[in-house]
Amino acid sequence: MRIHGDPGRVFSRRLSKRRALFVAAGGAVTALVLVLVLALPLALTHRQDLPLERVYGDAAVSVVSRVLGGDAQNPVANDARALSTGRAAYTGSCAVCHGAKGDGRGALGRTTYPDATDFTSDAAKSKTDAQLFWIVKNGLGFTAMPAFGSQYKDAEIWAMVAYIRALQRGNASALAIPEPSVAQLATADPTVSRQTRGAAIYFALGCHLCHGPEGDAPGDLSIRGRIETEIVRKGDERGMPAYGPDLITDAELADLESYLLRFAAIPSSPD
Ligand code: HEC
Ligand code: HEC
Repeated sequence: MRIHGDPGRVFSRRLSKRRALFVAAGGAVTALVLVLVLALPLALTHRQDLPLERVYGDAAVSVVSRVLGGDAQNPVANDARALSTGRAAYTGSCAVCHGAKGDGRGALGRTTYPDATDFTSDAAKSKTDAQLFWIVKNGLGFTAMPAFGSQYKDAEIWAMVAYIRALQRGNASALAIPEPSVAQLATADPTVSRQTRGAAIYFALGCHLCHGPEGDAPGDLSIRGRIETEIVRKGDERGMPAYGPDLITDAELADLESYLLRFAAIPSSPD
């Protein structure tokens, strides 16, 4: 109680308290700005593991996938048909990062941070089928690993897990899908016509990674003479991903169809 206090001094003490608060707040803001300006770019661009960083990452992935993945067994672990489904899906959707052989050396595998997992490593081998299934379905936030739950049915994800196991055992033979030539890529142009727009979508979405640049992949993956765009929306149990309107709009699907129609005219045995 300041009964005898000089009201002016009380006021100025209050003022200096307020100023101190002000200075402290200003300091905190400056520190925050410095962190954002200096530390954030460092965090966003650093591509080397800090001590324990990789270990923490692996541990977090292991724990989360173990808890949320449950203990389901792979229903198609030894199913030859599932292996071929898994191989098709893996080739088109995963090999670009994890590599055709599963060693993490796909075209983009060494460019992401952290690197795409080498499935032949002990850490990947020691995960259960249920853990791998959960990761493929839900993806790993804060890494480049996408979630595939909206594109693939559970049966196909289990088939991919079975194929990853085959890669780990070293007894999987990669699919030979023809690579696009420069001339074929030149048919992709988003500005010229419906068909060239369709080609641009076909290559940008990686349809060629499974079906070849002109539907000329071997075996079941050939889509020559068979045009059915319904399947693009819905997917198919044999490893064909579903592309919802978030991935391909209706207008794009119409363009895509006009590119696919070219294949109908080509004889189904590759030239
Ligand atoms: C754009 C690149 C990219 C694509 C495409 C991709 N992955 Fe990944 N994946 C990653 C990265 C990066 C990690 C590692 C994340 C980490 O280290 O925490 C990963 C991790 C995983 C893991 C966890 C392995 C472990 O032991 O922790 C599995 C399983 C996996 N991917 C399966 C797949 C499958 C199956 C597909 C295709 C359907 C696929 N990935 C497509 C980048 C990709
Ligand atoms: C990960 C591999 C993969 C990717 C990527 C993929 N497909 Fe497929 N697609 C398949 C498989 C597997 C089938 C089913 C083959 C079968 O029935 O045996 C299929 C079937 C089809 C069919 C039907 C063929 C038929 O028998 O009637 C069409 C058309 C098709 N895909 C178009 C596309 C288009 C367009 C894209 C890109 C937007 C695409 N696919 C991307 C694997 C893929």
